[in-house]
Amino acid sequence: MDEYISIALPKGRLGEKVYALLSSLGYGCPALLEQDRRLIFTDDENGVRYFWSKPSDVAIYVERAAADVGVVGRDILLEYEPDVYELLDLGFGKCRMCVAGLRGEKPDPGRTVRVATKFPHIASEYYASRSRDIDIIKLNGSIEIAPVLGMSDVIVDIVETGRTLRENGLEVFEEIVPVSARFVANKASFKFKNARIEEMLRRLSSALEEEK
Ligand code: PRP
Repeated sequence: MDEYISIALPKGRLGEKVYALLSSLGYGCPALLEQDRRLIFTDDENGVRYFWSKPSDVAIYVERAAADVGVVGRDILLEYEPDVYELLDLGFGKCRMCVAGLRGEKPDPGRTVRVATKFPHIASEYYASRSRDIDIIKLNGSIEIAPVLGMSDVIVDIVETGRTLRENGLEVFEEIVPVSARFVANKASFKFKNARIEEMLRRLSSALEEEK
C-alpha cells in the first residue's frame, strides 16, 4: 500500500471500540494490541498508521495534519472548534453535556453563577445565550467536587450514566447538548487522500447502518 492513512485514536474504552470497528473493516494493525508502551503503530499491509492520543488532543493532531483522520467526542469539537471536517456521527460514546449541582439547590437565576468546568467555552456560550452572568472556574477533572466543597454553584460537565453525580449528591439541572463520538478528517488530507478517506467513511457508514 503506497498511501498510508494515519489515524488518531482516543486512549481508553472509546478508542478501543473504534479500533475494533476499524480493524473489522480492513484497517487492522495487530501490533496495536500488544501490551507495550509504544504509542505509534504501522501496518504496511493495510496501509494504516495508528496512534493513541489523549482524547482531548485528537482534534489538535487532526487539525495540524499529524493525523489524517481521528475519532473525537462532540464535546471536544464544541469546546475547541478545531478546523477539521466532521464526517460522521459514530453513534457511540454517547453522553450529555449538562449543568448540574447539589440536589435541590438550583441557583437563583438573578445571581451570578459560579460554574466549575473543563469546558469554559461551552459553558460561556450556553450562559451567554441565556443572558446569565457567570464566573467560570476552570478545572481539569473531578469537577463534581467543586459544588460539594462550596467552591461553585454548578458544574458544566459530561454525564454518561449519571453515577458520579448520584454518588456525590448532585443532580442534572439542565441539559445543554447531546454528545457522541465523531469521525473527523484533516481538511488537506481529505483533498489529497480523498479516495482512501471516502472509502473508510463508506465502510464505517455501512457498518453502522447494519448495526441499526
Ligand atoms: C467524566 C465526567 C464525569 C463522569 C461522568 O469524567 O467528567 O465525571 O465521567 O460519567 P458517569 O455519568 O457515567 O458517572 P472522567 O471519567 O472523564 O474523569 P475526569 O473527572 O478526570 O474528567
